Amino acid sequence: MRNLNEDTITQAVIASLGGCGEERLRTVVTSLVQHLHSFAREVRLTEAEWQAAIAFLTAVGHITDDKRQEFILLSDVLGLSTLVTAQNHAKPAGCTEATVFGPFYVEGSPDYECHADIANGARGEPCFVRGRVLDVEGRPVAHALMEVWQADQDGHYDVQSPPAADGSITHRARGKLRTDADGRYAFRSILAEPYPIPHDGPVGALLAALGRHPWRPAHLHFMIQASGYETLITHVFRDGDPYLESDAVFGVRSTLVADWVRHAAGAAPDGSRLDAPYYTLDYDFVLNPTTRQAA
Ligand code: BEZ
Ligand code: FE
Repeated sequence: MRNLNEDTITQAVIASLGGCGEERLRTVVTSLVQHLHSFAREVRLTEAEWQAAIAFLTAVGHITDDKRQEFILLSDVLGLSTLVTAQNHAKPAGCTEATVFGPFYVEGSPDYECHADIANGARGEPCFVRGRVLDVEGRPVAHALMEVWQADQDGHYDVQSPPAADGSITHRARGKLRTDADGRYAFRSILAEPYPIPHDGPVGALLAALGRHPWRPAHLHFMIQASGYETLITHVFRDGDPYLESDAVFGVRSTLVADWVRHAAGAAPDGSRLDAPYYTLDYDFVLNPTTRQAA
């Protein structure tokens, strides 16, 4: 293999994969090489641009640690996360749609009973969220595990705050609960507000260079697991949000947009009395049984 040129290099690289014993790996890398080379040919990539790309990816790597995942952010703002989610989670009509996971999920969030206040001191207007988890026939999914996480009124997730001296993080506006025998769930939290994705790193610089904003429309994150059903990772978005049509990570789906209803101060759904206005959100989730395929 010598004297490779613009016309022969792609085939030579692909031929070099012939000894790869993992068929899927060979398929994926073959396609990756074909597309990468086609891209470089199409745009006539210059050496300066190639160097800028390497510097950019290096910066993405340098800012990434166990708290900050700039590579996922990059995948998100390029629409790759939404593409991968869409092609892996096609569901029958009537099932709740999936959307991007995002970088702020953490394992080991606190357990709560139904109706608990999961805000745990997070700043924001009170919001009572309730609904049911159902199957496609409208039957309740009892004892489903629901994990919820959201940003506070300043647009920060708990995991973005500095940890305590012992390294621990106080979880706020995040928790796990289970549906009851009728598939019902309810919790108190805070009103979701729009917030910018972390944009003080290379991905933020890329967005600025592209003339794009970093904002996401207000949303709650949910992960719902129940035996016999596909795990659902999704959001519920707040209707009327100014960023619904321009989500920085392309995650909005019409079926996931719901009405957050504002109420005057007074008796709240959990029986307490509130001296400030509060919100309610009613939303039912429909799970896809693991045995059924998308139509
Ligand atoms: C989020 O909604 O938490 C999120 C999703 C993608 C990128 C950044 C944040
Ligand atoms: Fe989020």
